[in-house]
Amino acid sequence: MSISRTTPLRVAVLASGRGSNLQALIDAIEAGQVQARIVAVISNKKEAVALERARKHGIKDLFVDPKPFAGRPDSREAYDRSLLEVLQQHETELVLLAGYMKIVTTVLVNAYANRMMNIHPSLLPAFPGLEVQKKAIDWGCKLAGCTVHFVTEGVDEGPIIIQAAVPILDADTPEALAARILVQEHKIYPRAVQLFAEGRLGVDGRRVFIDSAKPDGEVIVSAV
Ligand code: GRF
Repeated sequence: MSISRTTPLRVAVLASGRGSNLQALIDAIEAGQVQARIVAVISNKKEAVALERARKHGIKDLFVDPKPFAGRPDSREAYDRSLLEVLQQHETELVLLAGYMKIVTTVLVNAYANRMMNIHPSLLPAFPGLEVQKKAIDWGCKLAGCTVHFVTEGVDEGPIIIQAAVPILDADTPEALAARILVQEHKIYPRAVQLFAEGRLGVDGRRVFIDSAKPDGEVIVSAV
């Protein structure tokens, strides 16, 4: 299937922490490198630095408190239903998870199929989950990196859009490696958003094509 969008693309960012990927996207938009508008930054953490970053740039920041939903058997789905309402109120076309430390449920995944991206600091499918820079070093990998992928139900499992590789140095610590990977994250996430904004991404099963054709030559992507 091909994905094409309006201009400027209406993007919402879900973030729980420091928001450096959010900042990279804001900077790329302000520099004219990405044709998108961030319609809201939403967090499950009131103190998230990402919310402050949004405020500084005149972007709507929203804290959606998970507490009222806690204890219900469907607490995660109920929370996501309230997020979905907010996303729809803002006419969100693309959702970006950027350090969002909550597993999204099918409520959001289905509503934003092929319209929700995540960034992960490993070369997926190696090392999904947490503390992945340490895991890559401990495994003895020579390359680490980061992945932007569409979000599906399985954590860190969706179709891969862009990856960037970073060498692992003998003297690397998880922190040093994470910092070098982050530099690449800040490049590939805005790039993926721009490709989406330009309608240049096509999804065929697990494979994401950029301006490309399937092996049989059938063009599955067209620019807007
Ligand atoms: C990044 O390393 C990202 O890959 C991972 O969480 C971290 C978020 O960092 N999903 P930041 O909040 O964008 O600075």
